Formats: sequence, structure tokens, C-alpha cells
Amino acid sequence: LINGLIFDLDGVIVDTAKYHYFAWKKLAKELNFAFDENQNEALKGVSRMQALELLLNFGNIKASQEEKRLWANRKNRYYQQCLSNLSQNDLLPGVLTFLTKTKERKYKIALASSSKNAKTILYHLKIENYFDFIADGNMVQESKPDPEIFLLASDGIKCPPNACLVFEDALSGIQAAKSAGMLVIGVGNSKVLSTADLVISSFDNFNLTEAEAYFNNDSSV
Ligand code: G6P
Ligand code: MG
Repeated sequence: LINGLIFDLDGVIVDTAKYHYFAWKKLAKELNFAFDENQNEALKGVSRMQALELLLNFGNIKASQEEKRLWANRKNRYYQQCLSNLSQNDLLPGVLTFLTKTKERKYKIALASSSKNAKTILYHLKIENYFDFIADGNMVQESKPDPEIFLLASDGIKCPPNACLVFEDALSGIQAAKSAGMLVIGVGNSKVLSTADLVISSFDNFNLTEAEAYFNNDSSV
């Protein structure tokens, strides 16, 4: 029985995944290499420094620790500039309705985001009150696909992993949730997120009761 819902933030609740991509692409351009949306899938969900390592691998660039630190900071500045006008309009379709409905029901709700900007983003969106527990990039040692952040969130809402359902838009996040022993719904493109237990294109018209019935009838989960 599911009684905890754990949400990723960027690309699930709010349309900020495109800003991360924009900021990494700008940095790549300044370092003289092209970086595309396909490659970007690998950067989703992972910490800022890990994402930088992946980016530099794509560009075949070797760098010192000091250069890496400066580039990660530069990317974060580009990203934060994109966030300056963030508002409820940036919530992804159906999210607010879904959060409101689930809050009225029995579910405990947690956030599990690798981002160190997560709390600022929730504040801009004015949705902090929906969450019983917030786990962000400042609270973990290991980045997704490690399960650490999901286990922290499940602990925070006192729901065992097998009673938690995760919403994720990143392959690293799906892997992390599965390693934590949780069910996971991919939010996005089913071709990309095929490792999830179920994929939805958005929260618009998403029915949690139907999804629960699906999981209960599916002997493979
Ligand atoms: C999220 C995003 C990643 C990002 C990570 C760290 O998980 O999906 O693309 O790299 O957070 O974000 P931060 O805001 O701390 O740089
Ligand atoms: Mg995400």
C-alpha cells in the first residue's frame, strides 16, 4: 500500500530542467564544444559537480579542480539568472491540482531533489507547505543514482521504501528510486524513461487511484 509520495523537483514539479540545460549548453559553448539534448539526459538528476564531470567528458576536456570549481559556479550563475523571474506559472501542468488533491487525502509528501537551489525554488513557487519533508542537495553525500536522497526522504516522512511512490524525470533518479526499493513513475517521454514502473506525460489528468490499482494488479512489482 502506498502512503508516501516523493517528488523530484526540476522537470517534475517545475519547468526548470530547461534552464539547467540552457546553462550547461552556454558553458559548453564557452569551452568550445557542442552539447545536445540527448547528452543532457545523462546530466539530469545528478549533482552539480557530477553533471560538470559528465559535461567535460562529452567535450573531452581535462581540467584542474580549481577550473572545475569556477566553471560549476559560472553554470550556477547562469542558472540562477534564469530563476530570477520564477513564479507559479512555471509549475508543470496539473501539478498544483495533484498536490492539492493528494494533500487532502492520506498521503505524506516529500521532496527529493539533488539541487542546492531547491528551497529557493519552492519559496518562489509558494508550494513549501505541501511538503511534510524536504530533502535537497545540501543534505546528502551521494548523488542520484545513489539511493541516499530517497532513503532520507522516506525516513523523513516515516514511510518505509516499499510504501513510497516516486515521481522522476531523470534516468539517474529512476535508478536511485529503484535501488531504494521504491515504485517509480517517470514523468516525461516513455521512450527515454522506459526503466520506470509506469510513465506519464504530465500530471494533467493523472489519476493516482488508477495508478495504485495498476501497481496492485501487476505481479512484477
Ligand atoms: C537537479 C537537476 C540537475 C542538477 C541538480 C543540481 O537534480 O535535475 O540537472 O544538476 O539538481 O542542481 P543545483 O541547482 O544544485 O546545481
Ligand atoms: Mg528532475
